[in-house]
Amino acid sequence: MLEYIKRNTSRLQIGGIDFEELTRQYKTPLYVYDAEIIRTKFQRLRDAMPPHVHIFYAMKSNPNLAVIRILAELGCGFDVASIGELTAIKKMAIDGSRVVFTGPGKSDDEIALAIQLGIYSFNCESENEIIRINSAAKKANKKIKIGLRVNTDYAIKETIKMIGGTQAKKFGIDENQIFDVIDRVSKLENVIVVGIHVFNAAQVLDYKQLAANTKNILRLACDIMDHKNLSLEYIDIGGGLGIPYAEGEKELDVIALGREFSDLHKEISSLSTVRWIVEPGRYLSGECGVLLTNVVDVKTSRGVRFVITDAGINNFLRPALIHQNHPVRVSNKFDHEPANIYRVEGPLCTSLDCLGTDVKLPDIEMGDTIAFFNAGAYGFSESMPYFLSHPIPAEVMVKRGKVILVRRRIEPHEYIEHCII
Ligand SMILES: Cc1ncc(COP(=O)(O)O)c(C=O)c1O
Repeated sequence: MLEYIKRNTSRLQIGGIDFEELTRQYKTPLYVYDAEIIRTKFQRLRDAMPPHVHIFYAMKSNPNLAVIRILAELGCGFDVASIGELTAIKKMAIDGSRVVFTGPGKSDDEIALAIQLGIYSFNCESENEIIRINSAAKKANKKIKIGLRVNTDYAIKETIKMIGGTQAKKFGIDENQIFDVIDRVSKLENVIVVGIHVFNAAQVLDYKQLAANTKNILRLACDIMDHKNLSLEYIDIGGGLGIPYAEGEKELDVIALGREFSDLHKEISSLSTVRWIVEPGRYLSGECGVLLTNVVDVKTSRGVRFVITDAGINNFLRPALIHQNHPVRVSNKFDHEPANIYRVEGPLCTSLDCLGTDVKLPDIEMGDTIAFFNAGAYGFSESMPYFLSHPIPAEVMVKRGKVILVRRRIEPHEYIEHCII
């Protein structure tokens, strides 16, 4: 994460802009995104992947329109999961052919909007969902492409449970049901099965595991094509490309992964015309983002040193939800050596409100600025902004040396007005 941050001053900078300057102007908590990092990460992945692999950004990781715009301009596709994300596609005038729609519990409104936008394919999570998509397609007088999301009998073992491996889950159709489902849905007139989708582990840093898992997915695709006489157009291998969070964790070697993908593509000739889709979220948007928070209090309780920040799990839920620390620095004391071990907590009235445990930091004083790195993915979007009625932070993007406000801060009085007395 820090490879992108200029280290030559005692204060942290992003894209040449001093963090302290940003917090003065936009207040804290504040999300800051570096446009250059998004571009670098996309380009790094694009260059590493063979041409048959298409990149569709998992919008759920960071749906800010400014992030979407950069990726859209770079030619990226999009994996959406809600009516809001479909609405973002519409607002940004992104061609539907660059969109897949994945996720359980698709509502009738979502299905209708996706059909209206002419998306490339629905990755379907159940037989009932397929029947509902078929009815909606019939109403719209269209034939719709679908892929079957498969809950496979194999998975990469996750270090932290996020997708859930091979257990019973709401995602996809169990592998042992898939042939029967294909038999039944093939009779429907307004949908056509053209793809399969498998996503069974998140935050994977080992390219060999990703390649081995993909090989299993390709075998499944071959079985489906052989036994069900289907000609598949795409195989969606999901997201899950990890980024380093802990000290000492290594970057995912995407060049080696691309080489493995290329070899697999050559090896399985029956799939030579099938396009692969990969749906990274975190890999593209994680490292571009920093959450800046102000230290409101410092105290010791029963031997534990606490730093209380103005951001809590209302703004940044991931560390508490996933039980994983993000890299943390004190932005105005970047060149100070760590002095103590702290627990960093937010201002909410719950002991769940913990943003970092056993964090080594320099001596902390009230007014210091704590920076949480790798907060670009599942940061702003995976929070609970209304809990305890604090301000909802602004998001700014640094682009070509300029700071752009990409979502304004919302003060509590603004959303309190939404209540009807
Ligand atoms: C269907 C789907 N695709 C892609 C992703 C992106 O995963 P990641 O950010 O780990 O790459 C997710 C994340 O939950 C997902 O549910």
